[in-house]
Amino acid sequence: MWRWALSLPEQLAYESPGLARLRTGDRIPQRLIAAGMGGSGVSGKFLEALSHGGNLPVIPWPWAGAPRWLSKDDTLLAISYSGNTAETLATLRDGIERGARVIGISTGGRLGDLLTNEKLPLLKAPEGMPPRSAFGFLLGTSLRVVERLAGVKLWEPAETIEALKMLCSELCGEGYASINALVRPLKNRPLVIYGTDPLTAAAAIRFKQQLNENAKVFAWANTLPELAHNEIEGAGPGIPPQRICLTLAEEPPPLDEVLRDGVQTIYLRGTGPNPLAAVLGLVLRGDLLSLALAKERGVEPGPIERIEDFKKRGRTG
Ligand code: PA5
Repeated sequence: MWRWALSLPEQLAYESPGLARLRTGDRIPQRLIAAGMGGSGVSGKFLEALSHGGNLPVIPWPWAGAPRWLSKDDTLLAISYSGNTAETLATLRDGIERGARVIGISTGGRLGDLLTNEKLPLLKAPEGMPPRSAFGFLLGTSLRVVERLAGVKLWEPAETIEALKMLCSELCGEGYASINALVRPLKNRPLVIYGTDPLTAAAAIRFKQQLNENAKVFAWANTLPELAHNEIEGAGPGIPPQRICLTLAEEPPPLDEVLRDGVQTIYLRGTGPNPLAAVLGLVLRGDLLSLALAKERGVEPGPIERIEDFKKRGRTG
């Protein structure tokens, strides 16, 4: 898992062979739905955050079945590493039926079969890893799809990848101490990760998922300003969760003053040559921290028996 986490820059550099064959069309889609769950679905959250500065609205879709408004003017990007996730397959089937433009990103599975039978584009991700460890492949491919469809640049790949390579080398050496120092305060506590803007909010969801799946701990994610409109009222009683605040700002928000529950916020500030590089640096640190926490707790990060059991029962919620 550690090796895969550190391959984030190389994964982002990967260009799926099908990309070049993707028809660009004469006009941009009305909307893009990014369907997917868990480790695959989180790419949609990043796409949504980046789309705020672009011309193609992106809606992450972690549901079984497409919204009624989905039409032929929309594009459905179905992201499922295994290609066998029931919710994503249900949305994909609806998308095909409604005549939406459909594109898949997957290693294959039933999603691959469905798209191949319908002669629809499938962008293949490399096989052989857990879905959450393929985050860089899935996000990089999704970003390239949106760029091709919308004809706008959403990120600076070379600069971002270079910055992440440097961060990987740092975190493999002396920088690892900064990860290790955070493990103890996170042990045996409920955890909450706060994002402070759309991009760090996406990173907070990724961080939470990695803590859940790798370290097998209860964690959730929310954002500031949202927390100041609800959670703030519940802060204090019982065992307050340890919070981690992800920020790109030099001056972090004064969360301890806002929540007044006696907990000291752990701030993780992302830095880099551009906002996405800075945020993906936070993702990398979150991934490594979740693995370090798994080790501290004596749990094996790879197996996800409960998720697999849920899937075997064919449930979609
Ligand atoms: O990380 C995981 O294994 C899960 O969160 C999966 O990503 C999730 O269950 C969806 O599966 P898939 O990514 O194969 O569609």
